Amino acid sequence: MKKYFVIIVLFAIAVIFFNCSGSKKAMASKPAPSTYETNLKTVVEATCSPCHIAGKGNKKPYDNYTNVKSDIDEIIRRIELNPSDRGFMPFKHPKLSDSTIAVFKQWRTDGLLEK
Ligand code: HEC
Repeated sequence: MKKYFVIIVLFAIAVIFFNCSGSKKAMASKPAPSTYETNLKTVVEATCSPCHIAGKGNKKPYDNYTNVKSDIDEIIRRIELNPSDRGFMPFKHPKLSDSTIAVFKQWRTDGLLEK
């Protein structure tokens, strides 16, 4: 009887370990979700400066997670306009590259995480 119990326990442990290593592999192949601190902040500081940087410009500060989170739809709408359109951002600057615009969009897709 005891022998069977040991075999069952060992089998259960083997199953658990097998599942764990499987899910870890799945996680490793998936890129981490983008966050404001890691992916967006430096882009905003580089492209929306000085106008939207607290203490430098007089426009709504976007070196600030809460403001970017609440305005993200309007931000993406404006950076996707053409420079000749009314409301285009970054104001009086060339249009952002597709890959930079993609950073904003990916952040929204990933759920607007702070860090
Ligand atoms: C050279 C200065 C300048 C830069 C650089 C700039 N902006 Fe602006 N931004 C303005 C001005 C001026 C306004 C107000 C006029 C308007 O709403 O169009 C404004 C307004 C906005 C608004 C509306 C804010 C509100 O209060 O509703 C958004 C959103 C915005 N900018 C996003 C951005 C983003 C994102 C960037 C960087 C990619 C950027 N801007 C870069 C000058 C700038």
